[in-house]
This record gives sequence, C-alpha cells and structure tokens, in this order.
Amino acid sequence: MLRHLVSIDDLSLAEIRDLFAHADRFSADPRGFADTCRGMIAASLFFEPSTRTRLSFESAMLRLGGGVITAAELASSSATKGESLADTVRVVGGTYADVIVLRHPSEGAARLAELYSPIPVINAGDGSHEHPTQTLCDLYNLHVERGHIEGLDVVLAGDLKYSRTVHSFAYALARFGANIVCVPQTGFEMPEYVVQRMREEFGVEPVRADARRLGSLASQSDAVYLTPQKPHQLSLFTDARGWEVENVDAVYMTRPQTERFEAEDRPVDNYLRLEKRSMAAESLRDAVVMHPLPRRDEISSEIDSDPRSIYFKQAARGVPIRMAILAMLMGKIEAGAGERVPAKDSHPVHVGPNPCPNPTCISRTEPRHVTPRFTLAARSPMRAHCAYCSRELRFRFVGCSTTRHFHEPDSTALRKVRPDHLVFLSDAAAAEALAFEPAAGVRAASECPDSEVARG
Ligand code: NCD
Repeated sequence: MLRHLVSIDDLSLAEIRDLFAHADRFSADPRGFADTCRGMIAASLFFEPSTRTRLSFESAMLRLGGGVITAAELASSSATKGESLADTVRVVGGTYADVIVLRHPSEGAARLAELYSPIPVINAGDGSHEHPTQTLCDLYNLHVERGHIEGLDVVLAGDLKYSRTVHSFAYALARFGANIVCVPQTGFEMPEYVVQRMREEFGVEPVRADARRLGSLASQSDAVYLTPQKPHQLSLFTDARGWEVENVDAVYMTRPQTERFEAEDRPVDNYLRLEKRSMAAESLRDAVVMHPLPRRDEISSEIDSDPRSIYFKQAARGVPIRMAILAMLMGKIEAGAGERVPAKDSHPVHVGPNPCPNPTCISRTEPRHVTPRFTLAARSPMRAHCAYCSRELRFRFVGCSTTRHFHEPDSTALRKVRPDHLVFLSDAAAAEALAFEPAAGVRAASECPDSEVARG
C-alpha cells in the first residue's frame, strides 16, 4: 500500500522504534545492504537550499543500491516557468522515480504533493511547518545516546517560532512521553498552534519553568515546561516558582531562521549562545548537545571537542535512519508489525471565500493551482484548519448550508449539523453575502468584542 511521510505523526511509535532497529543494522554494516533497493530511483526535489538532508538521502539511496535523480534548485526546474507543484509531482512520480524527497518553502507543500503523487512522498522540510526525517534522526540520536526517550528532559532552545525541526521534534517527544523545556529567543517562542496541537493530541500542558539551574543559557529567556499530563500530576507543579529544571538530558539548539522572518519580527541581536560558560551549568552536567545544523554563532566552536557535543555524530546518523525510511516506504523492510497510526477524522468543511490565514501556505503561494481546503479540527467549540498547513482558520460564525442560519461557534445547535453542511464565516457581513441569517439568539457582530473572535 502507498505510504507517504509528510508529518512525524504519520508514523506510529512502534514503527519509529523498528526504524531505529533497522538503522542500527544499516549503521553496523553500511556497505552490506547494496541489494535492498537495487533498480529503484529516488528523485530529490529541493526547492530550497539543503546540504545534509539532500546528501544524506542520496547517500542512503546509493548505499541501498538504488539510484538518484536531483532537481536541487528551483532555478533549474520548471517551477520558474510557472509549473505547479502538483504537475511537477505527477510528472516525476509517473515514470521517472520510485520515491520523491521534497523540500519546499511553502507550508503544506508535501501534503499537497501526496494528493497527486503515485509514489511515496517524503517531506524533507516544508516552510516552517515540519521536517519529519530530521526528527527521526534526532530521535534516533536520543535512542542511541540515552537508550530511551520516554521521561527524558529535553531543552529546545533558540528560534522556536520558525524552526520546523523543533515543531516536528516537539510533537514526537510529546508522543514518546518526554518533557520539553522551551528556552526561546525572546520574540521567537513556540507558536500557539503547535502548543495547542500538543495539548489536544498528546495531553501536554505548558507549565512555568524555574530555569535557574540552566545558568546563562536561560538567563535571557522565559523558560516554559511542556509536560505530558500523565504520569505527572500538574497540580504538583503549579506553585509560584514553577517546575524546577533539574537534570537535562539533551539541549537542542537551533539557528535563527532569518530567511523566514516576517516584517513583525525584530532582527535578533543577542541571540542565545552555547559556550563553555553555559555548559558549566549544573543541570547540563550530563546533557548531550544537539543541533540540526547548519549552525551560525549559537554554538561556540570552543565546545566542539566537549564529549557532550554530538551534533556531528547526529548528522552522520542521518544516513542509516534515512536508509531505514527509504527501505520502509519502498516496501523493502517491515516496521511496526502492522501497528499504524489511526487515520484522523478529516471531514472537509466549507469556508466561504476565505483563504488560509497563513501567507506562506501552499494554497496562498500557488493560488492559481491550489484550491483552499479546510477540515474540521474540533466540534465544541467549532474549529476548522487548513488541510495543507494545518493552521487554524479565523472565523466568527458557523452556518448550516441547509437551514441557512448562522450560529456562535460554541452553539449546541451546531452539534447536529453534518460536517459537510458546516460553513465557516469570517463575520456577519460574510454571512449575509452568502445569504445566511442569524439563528435565534446570535448577537449582531457589532456587539461582539474583538477578543472573542477565534484566532488561528
Ligand atoms: C534544518 C532545516 O532545513 O530545517 N536543517 C537540516 O535539515 N538539517 C535546520 C536549519 O536550516 O536551521
């Protein structure tokens, strides 16, 4: 059956653990599997720069005995002639290759590609959204270095707003039951949509962290603990001081993703930096230092020789784990013993003429080719999100396409409405333009304070 890897959530924990076991085998004998994917071809479609991800994928495919074709720069592909991503994927997936490895600056690009591709699509990074194979590499490193992931305390530091590696890693850590300490660069905190998803899907709650033992690393930052509600009891940690960061298992540092900054983002001077002095902090005594690379100044080269610094080993392990991913998606190895993630309910809903609120979503960057699609995110209160980039839709009312009435998002009347009859409306004017009338008891838009407007 055709499988894609678009989000880290597409893999079950059992599959991830088995991928680690395969990566161990590949790592122990990198030249011993040259028949595994013989005769197969991977197409690297890289619409954004890459060094490690593309080269480690290509090396992985070659080590498995397969071949590689590459479109490494947008400038050398038909995209500059106005070709849609969907068409590119259909052509490459037709007879050119057996698997597509795709990197794209627009969020949701890989989700779109999977709709059109007759062969597996692997998301090698889509804007600031996700980077699931880097996450598999990061998890594999924790598995090798620590032997387990559950219960670990992992610090995520730096630009948590735009780092796609951080977002995918956070979802996976939460699912494995690890604790996350966010130490963001001020102004680059973990986005609310990421925290909300962790809260809803994995039962994670943000708790104030007392990070004094992290020393200079956290001195300019407001640290937050993201912790699974189970096995911890939240009430234990809600005292005024917050939950103390004691012994950290890993620090995951990230560079400022300046290429994704928007007008509202202040330029960063004084970016967090790991150096000899910060590594002397009490709670980092046994912590490994990780970085997806490339680094700029956020990790001083003076700690490269510190045995706790594993970022180059981390990059090296990208090859065996990507061998495992490729071999699995091409049906050459088994993983998870049939334990798959259950398919999510993704009922399509209508949203009037509204585009996705995220300007870097593929539905906004390729508006001529991509029809906006939204699915129901939750029913009480009603919420909808973009089917590509999963960003929440901003809306004020929800209508029923059969009664033509519109309601407040938390109205109990909506619970009986079939998802495909729901119409999400930005405001009363939009409702009126589409010939909806207010249901009994709906307050006129002018009576609603702005703060009540659902935000994405
Ligand atoms: C990361 C990326 O592209 O998101 N790099 C990588 O894949 N190893 C991190 C980054 O560019 O900062």
